[in-house]
Amino acid sequence: MERFVKVRPHMPFMPPSREGTIIFPGFDGGAEWGGAAVDPAKGILYVNANEMPWILTMVETSSESSPSLSGGQQIYSRICAACHGVNRSGDPAHAFPSLTEIAKKFQKPDIIQLLGNGRGRMPAFAFLSASQKDAVAGFLLGETPVAADPAHEASAGDDVLLREPYTHTGYNRWSIPTAIPPSSRPGGP
Ligand code: HEC
Repeated sequence: MERFVKVRPHMPFMPPSREGTIIFPGFDGGAEWGGAAVDPAKGILYVNANEMPWILTMVETSSESSPSLSGGQQIYSRICAACHGVNRSGDPAHAFPSLTEIAKKFQKPDIIQLLGNGRGRMPAFAFLSASQKDAVAGFLLGETPVAADPAHEASAGDDVLLREPYTHTGYNRWSIPTAIPPSSRPGGP
């Protein structure tokens, strides 16, 4: 109840918000695409349904509001944080890996290549310029950022995403500590 009164309620077309907006039946449901089964004798198609609330929370990314952010960090919070989390800890429930220890596994060219090609469920970010890929890879590896070179700044129309003032903090299910969703059944893992 404490949380419920602080977030925006679920209603059709309720926009995402800084205080959090309930998304229901959620990013995983109602009807799921996987695992339908048919009973031809009875003429029934069974479909798994997930009806559990999620909370979508927006955070500001604009340089005016956070002038201390380096270029790489800004790109991270605008584009990468939605999946890898604002603090880079990932989201195991969705197989979004943590990036906090990435320096042990990857060198800069590996990350830059990954951003260009994508891998598995990670999309490619080919729209990022070479210097932007370099900056975000440097941020992940903990490099001290160098001052942005205006000659390499993104050209107009380059990437709408980078001009967006908000990003979200990830795809977060709303569950109480026992992992039970605060909604009635049906629910699913
Ligand atoms: C739509 C969700 C999504 C976004 C946005 C995203 N990633 Fe990923 N990322 C993934 C997934 C999923 C994987 C795991 C891919 C796999 O299993 O092969 C991954 C893997 C990675 C890895 C390799 C991790 C490892 O341990 O192997 C790096 C590095 C990475 N992402 C960096 C980034 C950066 C930098 C950005 C922003 C420019 C970004 N990602 C944006 C979903 C995302």
